[in-house]
Amino acid sequence: MSAKMNSYGLQLTLLFVLGIIELCSCSPKISQVTINPNCGQYCESSNVTTVYLRTESSTDSLHYVWDFSGKPSVLLAVTIPSAQLEVDWKKFLWGKEESLKFTEAPSYTFGITVLKIYEFNDVNDTGYMDNVRPENINVLHPKHFRWDRKSYSQNNDYFELSMEGTDYKSGSIQRNGTIKVLLNRFWKLDHSDIMPHMLHTENATQIDIIIDNFQTNSSFENSRFAVELLIIADHNLNSTMKIDVKKTLDDEHTPGIFEMVEITTPVCEVVNREEMCDKRIGEGYLQWRPVSYTDAQRDVTNSTEAIHYPLTPVANHAQSANNSLLYSYYGYNIENLLMQKVVVSLGSKGDGFYKKSNYSTWTFTIGYGSPPAEKFSLLVIMIISIGLGLPVVIMVAVGIYVCVRRRCTRSHTLSLNS
Ligand SMILES: *[C@@H]1O[C@H](CO)[C@@H](O)[C@H](O)[C@H]1NC(C)=O
Ligand SMILES: *[C@@H]1O[C@H](CO)[C@@H](O)[C@H](O)[C@H]1NC(C)=O
Ligand SMILES: *[C@@H]1O[C@H](CO)[C@@H](O)[C@H](O)[C@H]1NC(C)=O
Ligand SMILES: *[C@@H]1O[C@H](CO)[C@@H](O)[C@H](O)[C@H]1NC(C)=O
Ligand SMILES: *[C@@H]1O[C@H](CO)[C@@H](O)[C@H](O)[C@H]1NC(C)=O
Ligand SMILES: *[C@@H]1O[C@H](CO)[C@@H](O)[C@H](O)[C@H]1NC(C)=O
Ligand SMILES: *[C@@H]1O[C@H](CO)[C@@H](O)[C@H](O)[C@H]1NC(C)=O
Ligand SMILES: *[C@@H]1O[C@H](CO)[C@@H](O)[C@H](O)[C@H]1NC(C)=O
Ligand SMILES: *[C@@H]1O[C@H](CO)[C@@H](O)[C@H](O)[C@H]1NC(C)=O
Repeated sequence: MSAKMNSYGLQLTLLFVLGIIELCSCSPKISQVTINPNCGQYCESSNVTTVYLRTESSTDSLHYVWDFSGKPSVLLAVTIPSAQLEVDWKKFLWGKEESLKFTEAPSYTFGITVLKIYEFNDVNDTGYMDNVRPENINVLHPKHFRWDRKSYSQNNDYFELSMEGTDYKSGSIQRNGTIKVLLNRFWKLDHSDIMPHMLHTENATQIDIIIDNFQTNSSFENSRFAVELLIIADHNLNSTMKIDVKKTLDDEHTPGIFEMVEITTPVCEVVNREEMCDKRIGEGYLQWRPVSYTDAQRDVTNSTEAIHYPLTPVANHAQSANNSLLYSYYGYNIENLLMQKVVVSLGSKGDGFYKKSNYSTWTFTIGYGSPPAEKFSLLVIMIISIGLGLPVVIMVAVGIYVCVRRRCTRSHTLSLNS
């Protein structure tokens, strides 16, 4: 037993030492967050929310821009350490191209925009949106909500911004209800406090979307919602992104969910029909657990599925990205970059549709670098070791006992005989 205890002790110290090495090896970083940088009263009076988050290390700077002045968008950029964001606010609020730039050209950029929110009538309760007839689909345009900044906060672990979209009005169509968006920029590798407790790196932003008490179309019996994201990455136009479902080892952090969906950008690109692998190219990625919660109290009993559909190409980049941060940043150059769309629908067969709870969530992270992979935690390792180790220890103990007993009895018999 003591040998077994020693091996746990060893494992603990090893992990501890590794932790220290990790802490020591990361150079000091400076993080700054600015809301509406250099805009002042002009932005406050018109309720603009554009957040600039900058992390500078000795080798580079990672910039994030979260914007709600157009379609909700997130842009990330990697530059040399000294670069800063510059916004020409008048042009930016008019949605003009190249009204936002960095003082030094980024070596990599990646971004997303919430392009559309769909409401669909799932007539046959399949949970799938891809075979629904067009007349059973309504499109809600994110820019037709009124986006209000509810709160923001910061601590050593993250910066958090809470936004609410209300008063949907598009032509003659009005809808009551709220779309809540909670954004977190994490400063270190950890699991998020918010279910599904996604693992995130120090380079990630988590976006949590809640469709709360939203008024559905009265002619639809079985409404469900879906979100369409536009994804842009600084890669060759002819390359493609990849969507994968990965099995995870355990569900310790997200009870009941053993899968992770991941969209990654190519490290290899197709150039003139030949695959070129450029190891220097950075990687932007999206990750989410295929789960949607139906209650503010997020747990397995209050959950349903988040179903994704294949990535699709975008025909007219400028038109799709129009009225968003992405168009304001990339401008005409947007046509030369890799751009794709993805749809995620919330709900699954037999869950009682949106009306059962009037609450649907979707949580995903956007990040730079290699997407983090769940590892067995120390607790799980210990449980497994005990589970596997204890029987071995018992078997060995029994073996020794039997052996010793045999020896004893034999020597006893021998002595008797002599
Ligand atoms: C800004 O927000 C406040 C409170 O939410 C609202 O009363 C006001 O009308 C808004 N102003 C504009 C210009 O949208
Ligand atoms: C729903 O089911 C009916 C009968 O099975 C079928 O005729 C119809 O095409 C289905 N509708 C959709 C949208 O799948
Ligand atoms: C409800 O759906 C129908 C059919 O798609 C559409 O004509 C109508 O405008 C929708 N109503 C609302 C309030 O969105
Ligand atoms: C929408 O909200 C307004 C104001 O809160 C209310 O008067 C109206 O009845 C609501 N409409 C529906 C269909 O719930
Ligand atoms: C993309 O592919 C098209 C047609 O195959 C080709 O004409 C074009 O030059 C390619 N673009 C780049 C940037 O490689
Ligand atoms: C959510 O779960 C809690 C406890 O598990 C339960 O009391 C509650 O009714 C559930 N809510 C819904 C909408 O199912
Ligand atoms: C963007 O939308 C505006 C109207 O909001 C329109 O005037 C303009 O032509 C559009 N630009 C592109 C590139 O589609
Ligand atoms: C959801 O909203 C619809 C329409 O307002 C209402 O009929 C239904 O009872 C609500 N469901 C719950 C669980 O509150
Ligand atoms: C995080 O971003 C920095 C660039 O700022 C990069 O050097 C590093 O490898 C990234 N970390 C991970 C875990 O991908």
